[in-house]
Amino acid sequence: MKILGIESSCDETAAAVVEDGRRLLSNVIHSQIDIHAVYGGVVPEIAARSHIEVINPVINKALFDADCNWDGIDAIAVTYGPGLIGSLLVGTLAARTLAILHDKPLYPINHVEAHVYANFITDDGRVRLQQPNINLPQPSRSAIKDNKKAIKNKFALPARPPVFPCLALIVSGGHTQLVLFSDHGKYELLGQTRDDAVGEAFDKVAKILGLPYPGGPSIAAAATKGNSHAFKLPKAKLSGRYDFSFSGLKTAVLRAVQRQVGVDFTFPSHQLPERLDEPTRCNFAASFQHIAVETLVDTTWRAFCDYSPRSVVIAGGVAANTELRRQLSKRLPIDIQYAPIQLCTDNAAMIAALGYYNSQTLIPISPYKLEVEPSLALLPASP
Ligand code: KG4
Ligand code: ZN
Repeated sequence: MKILGIESSCDETAAAVVEDGRRLLSNVIHSQIDIHAVYGGVVPEIAARSHIEVINPVINKALFDADCNWDGIDAIAVTYGPGLIGSLLVGTLAARTLAILHDKPLYPINHVEAHVYANFITDDGRVRLQQPNINLPQPSRSAIKDNKKAIKNKFALPARPPVFPCLALIVSGGHTQLVLFSDHGKYELLGQTRDDAVGEAFDKVAKILGLPYPGGPSIAAAATKGNSHAFKLPKAKLSGRYDFSFSGLKTAVLRAVQRQVGVDFTFPSHQLPERLDEPTRCNFAASFQHIAVETLVDTTWRAFCDYSPRSVVIAGGVAANTELRRQLSKRLPIDIQYAPIQLCTDNAAMIAALGYYNSQTLIPISPYKLEVEPSLALLPASP
């Protein structure tokens, strides 16, 4: 069964075709990072307008890369929340229109749940890999072919999907959650952040340090040149056994930077970066990353000991962080699973993968009835 996935919840316009929830036939992502970088974060109105400009070419390219026409597509899956309302409207409107036009079943997808399903995309030896980030207009067939070799190395897919019960650490720009999956569609929320998501903390600390947006990859890169024990930063202590908090850590970095450059809290924070030299900036990045990652690993370890899952996956943009992968692999006695970096950050392959599993148990929604849910929560499984 081939599913066309469509994703537009934030600043990536993406479409992908996935067969049977695991075989990746195409994966097209048009990122708006360059557009938003000048503002230091995503501007919702600009994001929505940019989605409108590229959504049709992105979907067409996903079909083209998969060597598929509409007759070959069995269903459409689309993100309906959580996310930015204007961005979600563009993707869902495209999906609804295409579902009506081509008479295809339509499945609404929870973006956060879908992040976990990036880990279900596996390499059965027949997977076709393409350059996921595209520059519109569409590259030629030969350009795509040239890219394949380079990407194959960076784009290694796992050989096997996770098994249940599966503990998932979902870490993105909007979410930090520990979820225990007992089966497809059956999950229990063990804990989550009380304030900032960990990705948000990476982005905000990057701003304090004067590192470019998006903060996660910038901090990770700077941290490789820094000393992770240069600054002593606090770990939040919470009563909830599986809960997280990152807002105190972010403020602790701000105060430490102010102390380091000899100013108090009244000093304008946008002027702090110019007072930091490069080695100190890298030491702050490394020290922050170390504590943020250790916090995630400590809590995941506790849940692992309490629930003895058969697999552990990390999902979401921050799952791309190599220090998180390294520390978690070191601490847990079983192999942790994570998707290739291109499938950790926002993409439509994960939407199509979850769409497949939902299509096995749920009835499709009427394209006339689908509405966006910007604040959609990841709900605990029903009893
Ligand atoms: O899943 P995602 O692409 O979008 C959301 O659903 O939020 O996650 C984006 C977040 C951003 O906060 C970004 O800074 C973070 O993931 N991120 C990283 C890395 N790559 C992306 N954080 C830490 N290390 C990375 N290598
Ligand atoms: Zn996401």
